[in-house]
Amino acid sequence: MNLVILGAQWGDEGKGKVVALLSENYEVVVRYQGGSNAGHTVVINGEKFILHLLPTGILHPHTVGIIAQGMVVDLELLVKEIKEIESKGLRVRDRLFISDRAHLVLPYHKILDSLLERKGKIGTTLRGIGPAYMLKYARKGIRVCDLWDKDRFYSLVKDNLEFVEELCKKVYCENFELKIEEVVDRSLENFEEVKDCVIDTSQYLLEKREGILFEGAQGTLLDVDIGTYPYVTSSNSSALGLSAGTGLPPKFFSKAKFYGVSKAYTTRVGEGPFPTELKDSTGELLRERGGEYGSTTGRPRRCGWLDLVALKHAVRLNGLDGIILTKLDVLDAFEEIKVCVAYQLEDRIIENFPASLTLLEKVKPVYKSFEGWKESTYGAVDRREIPKKAWDYINFIQEYVGVPVVMLSTSPEKDKYLWLEEESYEGANIG
Ligand code: GDP
Ligand code: IMO
Ligand code: MG
Repeated sequence: MNLVILGAQWGDEGKGKVVALLSENYEVVVRYQGGSNAGHTVVINGEKFILHLLPTGILHPHTVGIIAQGMVVDLELLVKEIKEIESKGLRVRDRLFISDRAHLVLPYHKILDSLLERKGKIGTTLRGIGPAYMLKYARKGIRVCDLWDKDRFYSLVKDNLEFVEELCKKVYCENFELKIEEVVDRSLENFEEVKDCVIDTSQYLLEKREGILFEGAQGTLLDVDIGTYPYVTSSNSSALGLSAGTGLPPKFFSKAKFYGVSKAYTTRVGEGPFPTELKDSTGELLRERGGEYGSTTGRPRRCGWLDLVALKHAVRLNGLDGIILTKLDVLDAFEEIKVCVAYQLEDRIIENFPASLTLLEKVKPVYKSFEGWKESTYGAVDRREIPKKAWDYINFIQEYVGVPVVMLSTSPEKDKYLWLEEESYEGANIG
């Protein structure tokens, strides 16, 4: 059966660890949206890997990795990432496929990203992601397949540069110095390194049919359509992005399992509403215990209690079959643990995640409180290592969102996890 692993919050839920673990049993691992804004961390025997563009599953020597058409690819960073992994003795290029339809991220996208941030800050990763999708949908994007034809590529870059230069000059009164020859030559050099990996990846996946794991980047609340717009990323980072991002028909996914990864609390990086954010010493403790600093930018992550209103939104709109709950161990030290079960606005109770920023910015979380277990769950791999009070917390989460917690993660190490029997869940939905 094919498996889809998605972020169920605002990204950084621990997808990297989970995918690295679960992809052991799959032949193909696919990234299908976003780009190098992702930072997926895996710790294997104490050694840390952070993947930005490659699917995390590529760390197994037997898996085929796919960069599908919905991604925006910075070839400069991709080649660097490939070489870093290859320098550790792991072959990459003979089992990596890159879609010929994927769009490129070029240096001027990054310049534009930082200029756009000056007016209306989103707190992006400055990796050029928004502008690359912006030009894609304006039908000015440049795709991997365009690199096969040097003259065509040159003229596309020339058009893009003129357009972006003018935009920057007129809107931001900024000139930038980018020489077309440098952009083109550098891109062609990078392309030379990976050109043998370029294929029509949707054809490949259609023929493969089974044994495929789809690795989401970012998270549901960063999805451009169902997230906290405009404080989102520029792709469909929920299940909505699967079909367009892979180039596979929606039917292809009808038998797949969909699991959403959620921390036992909540974090977000960048700007935007975050109803359960804690700006006090409790939030600080979550950040310190969870090591909550961005894998891509190093920024401190904003931290807060688990928001079940938001998580249920993710469960419903992704059609999740289960939750993979990570970083339970981070909560080991707390006297009291809270979860948000509704939002309150004056005397109104809101139970569905609102679209409106006006609401999201004003609502106050309604909390249910749990007594902390105050015992270490770090590295737990057996049910008996999880205290009763932690089970109360986990059971409440699954009952509220209406799907089971199928796996618990208790350490950054790939092999520290508990797989929970799906059958043991009774499916009561009290939310
Ligand atoms: P991703 O973007 O969803 O892959 O998540 P990131 O890699 O950006 O951030 C998750 C962080 O939490 C990484 O530093 C992981 O090593 C770490 N991590 C993942 N699972 C666990 C866990 O169960 N416990 C602890 N303490 N850390 C974890
Ligand atoms: P992974 O895959 C967390 C956030 C940025 C910013 C917003 C838009 O590691 O979970 P962008 O650069 O995409 O235009 O920034 O989205 N963001 C992420 N936050 N994890 C990520 O990826 C993210 N990718 C983008 O911080 O708020
Ligand atoms: Mg991350």
